[in-house]
Amino acid sequence: MARFYTFLFLAVFLSTAASRRLSPRATPGPILTSGKNYTRVCDAARFASLGLDVKDMVYCDRSLSYADRVADLIGRMTLDEKIAQLGDQALGAPRIGLPKYNWWSEILHGVSWVGHGTYFGDIVPGATSFPTVILSAASFNQSMWKKIGQVASTEARAMYNLGHAGLTFWSPNINVVRDPRWGRVLETPGEDPLTVGLYAKNFVRGLQDVEGQELSSDPNSRPLKVSSCCKHYAAYDLDSWKGVNRYSFDARVTEQDMAETFLRPFEMCIKEGDASSIMCSYNRVNGIPVCADARLLVETVRGEWGLHGYIVSDCDSLEVMADGSHWLNDDKEDTVAQALNAGLDLDCGIYYPNYTGSAVKKGMIRESSINNALTNLYTVLMRLGFFDGSDEFKSLGLKDICSKENVDFAAEAARQGIVLLKNENNTLPLSSSPSKTFAIVGPHANATTVMIGNYEGKRLDS
Ligand SMILES: *[C@@H]1O[C@H](CO)[C@@H](O)[C@H](O)[C@H]1NC(C)=O
Ligand SMILES: *[C@@H]1O[C@H](CO)[C@@H](O)[C@H](O)[C@H]1NC(C)=O
Ligand SMILES: *[C@@H]1O[C@H](CO)[C@@H](O)[C@H](O)[C@H]1NC(C)=O
Ligand SMILES: *[C@@H]1O[C@H](CO)[C@@H](O)[C@H](O)[C@H]1NC(C)=O
Ligand SMILES: *[C@@H]1O[C@H](CO)[C@@H](O)[C@H](O)[C@H]1NC(C)=O
Repeated sequence: MARFYTFLFLAVFLSTAASRRLSPRATPGPILTSGKNYTRVCDAARFASLGLDVKDMVYCDRSLSYADRVADLIGRMTLDEKIAQLGDQALGAPRIGLPKYNWWSEILHGVSWVGHGTYFGDIVPGATSFPTVILSAASFNQSMWKKIGQVASTEARAMYNLGHAGLTFWSPNINVVRDPRWGRVLETPGEDPLTVGLYAKNFVRGLQDVEGQELSSDPNSRPLKVSSCCKHYAAYDLDSWKGVNRYSFDARVTEQDMAETFLRPFEMCIKEGDASSIMCSYNRVNGIPVCADARLLVETVRGEWGLHGYIVSDCDSLEVMADGSHWLNDDKEDTVAQALNAGLDLDCGIYYPNYTGSAVKKGMIRESSINNALTNLYTVLMRLGFFDGSDEFKSLGLKDICSKENVDFAAEAARQGIVLLKNENNTLPLSSSPSKTFAIVGPHANATTVMIGNYEGKRLDS
């Protein structure tokens, strides 16, 4: 068990740039203004505490469209203020009443400790942990996948109300498994592109859809329960193999394999699930880093598939591009310009906040491209009720997290996913008369830590 656990840790966390930035004691995600927590931006008392009047802020006027409100918000920002919102730990702009926001939360099989937007501790020690995705997927039960998303997002909204989670969750992981030795197989729905796509669609609908408002003539105004993200796009499923690693890996993929295998689940996730985000992966595809590939990003995801949402990078992808794989010998400004101009809206990292300003000065980036990225970002936050609050979800709280009903449903999901391959001589079920004693042996006999999977829903140190 210890060896497997160590391996898991190595595969997922070690030697990653992200591990430097990830701490279990991350900053929580409430709207904290003048020492008080608020659940919405456009709260008159919050503005008053900043010496501002909410009535002066057109972006808080609920009689206007999200498009008009977002345009007003962005129009109020200086260039420096705009750039300060382009990293996952967006700084906000107190001058105009915009609070900071941590974009990074995770909800792979229940709300997870990973990311700066979510934290467990004090009043919320953990969230309901559903089976690892590879297990739930084996039920082939689409309505169950959707229901897992619904129950998990209810817990997420409750945690948001308590100031313990964000509203934007970077799940599910829908990379198609091409080699069972890949260390992250447990996070995925497996090797079949259609099953992976159907899982994506149902889980995303479960997470995002607000009941009764699933359909809308304007998808960019459709309300979201939480925001979901299809990752890691694309052809990414490799960690470390014979000197090749996930950061600088160049996936050489034929057009056919790309269309039939690697892109198909993402297309379903966006077109059928209407996911409000997609994450580009570290690797290159046929020579080009995905996060700088205009064909894969703006042309395919936004153009062909019609994404209603934002494109985010995997954490420190831009740093990897410049300092790791030295792509085209680009300097830091070249790198942020390549990515922004390819359609990357948000950098999980510090390259956009640090180097977009000098890239603009060098004439590599137009301010209109920055406005465009911010429009994609703030439209999603509008749809989530970040600015206005939410009537549907405001009453959710502690009682809705790890309730008996939710924990029972997680157990039911595990039962549905278990596959009995062989039952020689009808040995099962074992009779459990009190006179019998069973020995459960082997490295996984009591592997509670391993079995909860990664991206788990509890404090790391508990
Ligand atoms: C605001 O929320 C954070 C996170 O839950 C908490 O640590 C802090 O004490 C809260 N502050 C106030 C004034 O309620
Ligand atoms: C699928 O899951 C749902 C929710 O748990 C359950 O009600 C239903 O019976 C399952 N369907 C099948 C065919 O097992
Ligand atoms: C970004 O800027 C901050 C503040 O100047 C600095 O501490 C940090 O090292 C920079 N990071 C990178 C990757 O350039
Ligand atoms: C099943 O029964 C056969 C015949 O009695 C026996 O040889 C075999 O060991 C049994 N298998 C198990 C798993 O009990
Ligand atoms: C199983 O592991 C848990 C957590 O590590 C521990 O508390 C428990 O005592 C163990 N049970 C057995 C039967 O070893």
